[in-house]
Amino acid sequence: MSILMTGCTGLTGGLFLNDFAKVFPERELNCLVRPNSYPNSLSNLNLKLNYCIGDSSTPETWKNIFSDFIPDTIIHIAQLRHIPGIISGLDKLQKLPHLIIIGTTGIYSQYNEYSQDYKIAESQLQTYQGSYCLLRPTMIYGSHRDKNLHKLIKFCDRYGFFPVFGSGDNLIQPVHAEDLAQAILTALQRPHIQGAYDLSGGTVVTFRELLTLVGELLGKPVRQISLPLNAGVWSATILENLLKERSPVRREQILRLQEDKAYPHDAAQRDLDFFPRTLEEGLRQEVELMRSLGMISS
Ligand SMILES: NC(=O)c1ccc[n+]([C@@H]2O[C@H](COP(=O)([O-])OP(=O)(O)OC[C@H]3O[C@@H](n4cnc5c(N)ncnc54)[C@H](OP(=O)(O)O)[C@@H]3O)[C@@H](O)[C@H]2O)c1
Repeated sequence: MSILMTGCTGLTGGLFLNDFAKVFPERELNCLVRPNSYPNSLSNLNLKLNYCIGDSSTPETWKNIFSDFIPDTIIHIAQLRHIPGIISGLDKLQKLPHLIIIGTTGIYSQYNEYSQDYKIAESQLQTYQGSYCLLRPTMIYGSHRDKNLHKLIKFCDRYGFFPVFGSGDNLIQPVHAEDLAQAILTALQRPHIQGAYDLSGGTVVTFRELLTLVGELLGKPVRQISLPLNAGVWSATILENLLKERSPVRREQILRLQEDKAYPHDAAQRDLDFFPRTLEEGLRQEVELMRSLGMISS
């Protein structure tokens, strides 16, 4: 079976490749990487990795790849919004690969400005004539490479407080990157499993409960400073305008604090043996990892 994947240099992609190498040592796998990407960290894996250079958001990249070879399976981890480019690249091909796509539960957001692109991408995916399995993770955490919780842990460790914009009572259910990576591997091993699956973590908590848990794991209290939601939205907007990609917080993250982001994963449990770890277990591992890297105090 020939495989092409995107996102191999990212958090989830790297963990997936680790799991893949354990189950399929020395197997060949094709990775689509951007010209400025650094796949050096993958050289120690017991796999034969071939690199295709390109940008998964552009139809030209996919057309170029498919003029060389058509894989049996494409694992697209990089970004759900790239689906239109992939589907258009696959148009009129003789052979249609099985697609394993990483989406996001962000598609359920009531803020259309954020969910609309995902809705468009998913509806495009539904037009695909071949088979596909769409995995929608909630917020991904689990290491200093995650986009969210490692920053929160670092801040709490350093300053001993964290701002809570709005009530702080809305629900979240973060998923550990290793559990997501394992689900991708299972989806690969079970190509008959098709359709869409929400992948949430093992525990539902409020934002305030998350801060309490982080404090317990750090071994120091984290004071919760209550602030009006608007203050957070304004600050995040200013930071995003000034710092662009380098902003520590996005306006979307603050606005979405008002939404419950807990989603059942019963279907994934049934079809993909998806039994994610509890948040306490996952965060304990993340805190220990960050301690061992000297990123937080011991
Ligand atoms: N982070 C979250 O909380 C969250 C929540 C729900 C869903 N998701 C989705 O889950 C997936 C994995 O997330 P992650 O946090 O593990 O990702 P990540 O660490 O940010 O890694 C993203 C990967 O995609 C590659 N990539 C990005 N744009 C690309 C492009 N245009 N062409 C080719 N490669 C490209 C990056 O390569 P480079 O080396 O070139 O940068 C990197 O390998 C993503 O689709 C993300 O949108 C994330």
